[in-house]
This record gives sequence, C-alpha cells and structure tokens, in this order.
Amino acid sequence: MSLDSNNPLKTKSWLKLINHFKKIKDIHILEHFISDKSRGKKFSIKWKDFLLDFSKNNIDGETINLFQKLLNEINLKGSIEKYFSGEKINLTESRAVLHTALRADGMSKILVEGKNIMSEIVETRDKIKLFSHEVISGNYKGFKGDKIEAVVNIGIGGSELGPSMVVESLYHYKNHIKTYFISNVDGDHVQDIISDLLPEKTLFIIVSKTFTTTETLTNANTVREWFLKSAEEKDIPKHFVAVSSNVDEVINYGIDPDNIFPMWNWVGGRFSLWGSAGLSISLSIGYQNFSELLEGAREMDIHFKTSEYSENIPVILACISLWYNNFFNYHNHGIIAYSEYLKNFSKYLQQASMESNGKQTDRSGNFVNYETGQIIWGQTGSNAQHSFFQLLHQGTKIVPLDFIGFSKPLKGNNTHHNILMSNFFAQTKALMTGTFKTKVNDNHKFFNGNRPTNTILIEKLSPKNMGSLISLYEHKIFTLGLIWNIFSFDQFGVELGKKLAKIILSDINSGNYSGHDSSTESLLKEYIFGNK
Ligand code: F6P
Repeated sequence: MSLDSNNPLKTKSWLKLINHFKKIKDIHILEHFISDKSRGKKFSIKWKDFLLDFSKNNIDGETINLFQKLLNEINLKGSIEKYFSGEKINLTESRAVLHTALRADGMSKILVEGKNIMSEIVETRDKIKLFSHEVISGNYKGFKGDKIEAVVNIGIGGSELGPSMVVESLYHYKNHIKTYFISNVDGDHVQDIISDLLPEKTLFIIVSKTFTTTETLTNANTVREWFLKSAEEKDIPKHFVAVSSNVDEVINYGIDPDNIFPMWNWVGGRFSLWGSAGLSISLSIGYQNFSELLEGAREMDIHFKTSEYSENIPVILACISLWYNNFFNYHNHGIIAYSEYLKNFSKYLQQASMESNGKQTDRSGNFVNYETGQIIWGQTGSNAQHSFFQLLHQGTKIVPLDFIGFSKPLKGNNTHHNILMSNFFAQTKALMTGTFKTKVNDNHKFFNGNRPTNTILIEKLSPKNMGSLISLYEHKIFTLGLIWNIFSFDQFGVELGKKLAKIILSDINSGNYSGHDSSTESLLKEYIFGNK
C-alpha cells in the first residue's frame, strides 16, 4: 500500500492554520519573547548530543498545536510506518524506500516483497568492512605490489554528493589514504586529478546505481585508458571496483564480479551513502567510524519514529519550513554551518531536498495549486557573514535559516572556537532583534529584525552525530513531501535535459546545428564553427 493522497489545503487543520496565520503574521518574533519569558526553553528540544532551539520563529503554542492536528489528519504516523517497513511508497517507480534499512540493526527483519533484506545488507556491511580493513592496513596490494595510497570515487549526484560531503565533514577522523572525487564530466578537472595519481597506488571506485550515467561512464573510461597506459587488462581487477545495482552492465564493462558492491532499487541514489555508495567513506575514516555514522542515523530514525510530534526534531523542522513556505511565502531556506568541515553540507542538502520535493504533481496525479519544495542554499559561518548576510539582515526578502554549530572544537583551540561560536549566537540574535524599539535616525542603519532562525547546537562533530544530523534532514524531507502530498522519491525532472543532451551531442559530433529553436541553433553554430 502506498501513501494516502490528501490535498493539504482541503484539511480542516489547514483552514485553521490560515486563520491562525492571519492573527500571528504581523507579530515581531521578539514580541513573543517579551510576552513569554520562558519561550527559549519552551520551544527547544534536547535530544542526546543535540539541542534544537526553534524559539526564534514566528510561531506560538497554537501553531504547534495546529500542526500536530494537521499531521494527525494526514496520518503521518501511519506513513512513517509504511516508510520504514518497506511498503512501496515510491509508487511512481513502484519501489520501497529503505535507506533506513541500510543502517538498521542487523538483527531486525525488514521485508521487501516477502524477503528479509537484512541478511544481504549485513553481508554487504561485512564486505565493506573487510575490504576497508585490507586497503587501509596495506595488506591489499596494487599490480606492482604497492599499498594503496589514493582512492578515487567516480560518480555523480547521489553517487558523489553524500559520500564526498561525509568524507569532508569527518576529515578530522581521516586516515593516511587520500580521497578524490570525480563527478563532473569536465575533462579539465579529470586531467587535474589524474595528474596527482600514481596508477599502481590508486584504487578507483565507480559508483553508479544504474551504471548508465553518461558522466560517470565517460569519466570511468578516461581513467581506465589512462590506467592502461602503464598497466595491463589483467591488472584492472586490482584497481577498479564498482558500486551498482546493475550487475550485468558492470560485468559487461569488465569489472570482476567479486569487485561489485551491491546497491538495491529500494534505495534512492541521494539517500545511498549508508550502504556500498559509502565505500569511499569507510576507506577514508575506517569501518569503525563508518559504523558509528550508521549508528547515529539509526538513533535519529528511532527518534523520528517514536517521539511525539512536539518533541520530534525532524517533524518540528518540517512544520516550520512548511509554515514559511506556504503561509509566509518565504521560499528560500539557508543552511549556515559554523564549521569549515561542513562546507558542502548545503550542497548535499540541495540534492537531497530539491530532487525529492521539487515536484508539481500530487499523489493523485493532479498538478498542485500550492508551493512545494524549498530553494536550499548556504555556506559556512562566519564566512557567509562577510558575503551574503547583508541581504539576510537588511534585504527585502526573508530567508529562514538553520544555524548548525558545535559546542566543542575538534582540535582543542578554544580561542578560535569561542570567536566562531560568539558569531553563531550573535547572528541569530541580531537577525531576530534588529534595532527593535531602538530609535534609529538613519534608515540605512535600520534593522527590522524579525528574521527567523533555527539553531541546532551539537556537542561535537563526531561520526555518530554526523549520522544523526543527515538522518534528521532526510526525515524532514520525507515529512515535508508527505504534507505536500507529492512523491518525494522519484526524479523524473532530470530526464528531459539528459535526453536532449544526447541529441545535441550527436549534432555537435556531426557538425549539425539546425532543427532547434533559433537561440539554440545560433549557440550551437558559434560553438561548432566559432569564428570560422
Ligand atoms: O540525474 C539524477 C540522478 O539520477 C540522481 O538521482 C542520481 O543520484 C544520479 O543521477 C546518479 O545516478 P547513478 O548513480 O545511477 O549514476
């Protein structure tokens, strides 16, 4: 059974939310604090190493109350049950959605079409563990008998963004092996990476769920040709492994069947870092750290499944985003992490969120008449403060933000950390307070404040906490998609461009620029013939 289809606008709670919105919309957030001294604590959730403070939003107790009613009306609990238990909630592709199984307890029982999938997940975990251990310890040898010194992940989208973001986030836990990511089919970039590598000391992981992605296969071919300049075909198995669900294509490509790490069609690419697609993570920080990442995610899964809505971090964050997106018409959402290690976290969330919830058709197949999706972007603080924060403080657009920070630095430099974190706390305060009730004679120096933020303060940037953080956003995305009544786990929107690129590539190769609109034709003419 797939997810129910409920037009959110037709629920009783939505109507009540509209009326509530009319009452609350003109209240300055700071006024909520003036009228309720314990607001900070009231609108906070403490969970393990996490503290979510969502008090600096234009919400009150009634907002949360009405959202809880909405979630009951659309049966969030029942849908979470379907999500975790392997129902085919990705109806448009007729698939279950089970990235949560990749991090589930090995002893649990999760059925897909009547078959318990946990045994193959555990088997794959063991394979990743053994392989990581062999490579990291140096037991694993390349074709000249050398230890592996560099690992190159060749993949794009979900086959790169998640793994590279985690490898970068957990750089503090990294071992001696250098990790590279080739994703774009930009030949200049591929050449630059290759020029850093020694073929006899490099392991290539080709990651592609479908094993049909042009960018990945082109990059893999280029790398293989380069490799074969100094090695022979028989050396390929020692240096090329694949992560894919398309075993036949991988074997056709010439990868040794023993070197295939499986993916399954019940895990979407953008949610796949928890399994074989995370091989580069395990090779980079060791299997123990990788398994702590899984554990952190699993703990957040349990929190999401079992907590009351009012105490549920992903649910609360989803409701707040919906509140701004659909009632206030604030369509952007910024992610500001106060750690350079997290500099690609917003980039990762762009795919996770926008590929999932950038949809125009509801679960009954009708076009929606309300806003879905959020425009996600961000950068690390305090860098962002010296870049686009001017607009966030005084611009005409309001962008709700998530501030993510850590209580402890990783390398013990408290002088720096206190400066970093003083900015973290100061910015959310400044964004909310502005120059409220202070007389400012010069309009250029006026700050209205009233700009909403969530603060996620985490004890320490550890593999476990990172797992929980990613899982938190995955479940926020699920909850939003559920309320918007869309299918979050397909991505048909990426197909049209891919199809046209194939036609245009053949036009370029044959020197033809006709048959398109006049803009595309003249651009192609310029590209193919230039000044000739
Ligand atoms: O084009 C989008 C997409 O299909 C993503 O959903 C996916 O993560 C990426 O391409 C890569 O796909 P694959 O892992 O099959 O190469």
